[in-house]
Amino acid sequence: MDMLIALSSLPLAPTPPGQRIRKPIGPEHDLVVAWVARHFSPAWASEARAALANRPLTLFIAARGDPGELLGFCAYDATARGFVGPIGVRDTARRSGIGAALLLACLHDMRSMGYGYAVAGAVGAPDFFRRVAGAIDIPDSTPGLYAGMLRAPSAAP
Ligand SMILES: CC(C)(COP(=O)(O)OP(=O)(O)OC[C@H]1O[C@@H](n2cnc3c(N)ncnc32)[C@H](O)[C@@H]1OP(=O)(O)O)[C@@H](O)C(=O)NCCC(=O)NCCS
Repeated sequence: MDMLIALSSLPLAPTPPGQRIRKPIGPEHDLVVAWVARHFSPAWASEARAALANRPLTLFIAARGDPGELLGFCAYDATARGFVGPIGVRDTARRSGIGAALLLACLHDMRSMGYGYAVAGAVGAPDFFRRVAGAIDIPDSTPGLYAGMLRAPSAAP
């Protein structure tokens, strides 16, 4: 199911203590894509690569420390124009506000780029999107844009 998010009345995006929510710089791009593939999936890594190719780029990371440690990411205009996501936080760092900060960073950026609404596609954690951004369900939105999508072959039996 896809969800719709109005960008006109977003809450402020608090940054969790000790974290930086920011866009990656050039030398970090390959590391970000590899991290997304390792912690999530090749398809999300492909979307991260697409977001990093946009100008201005459309992906935020959460990092802490020096040298930095990557804790999460969120992209937009990666699946398709106007879509927000994918979003992922490292499993050991969840439930501490990082996901909310990343999602709101993307949504505020979309608003500043001129969008009025964002679509969260094929949502896997709908209550997170409802809570953080007031997302509402889009009826009859499955499979939507994902119909017939190319997928990696599953392992041979
Ligand atoms: C979904 C995800 C990004 C949330 O990140 P997080 O850093 O744990 O989220 P936060 O700590 O910022 O949570 C913000 C709020 O959403 C709630 N929340 C977080 N994950 C939730 C979930 N899976 N279901 C319902 N509510 C959730 C939190 O309790 C919190 O609510 P509160 O403000 O009332 O306390 C993270 O769990 C994740 O990476 N999951 C795996 C990938 C995934 O499913 N991505 C979404 C695909 S559409």
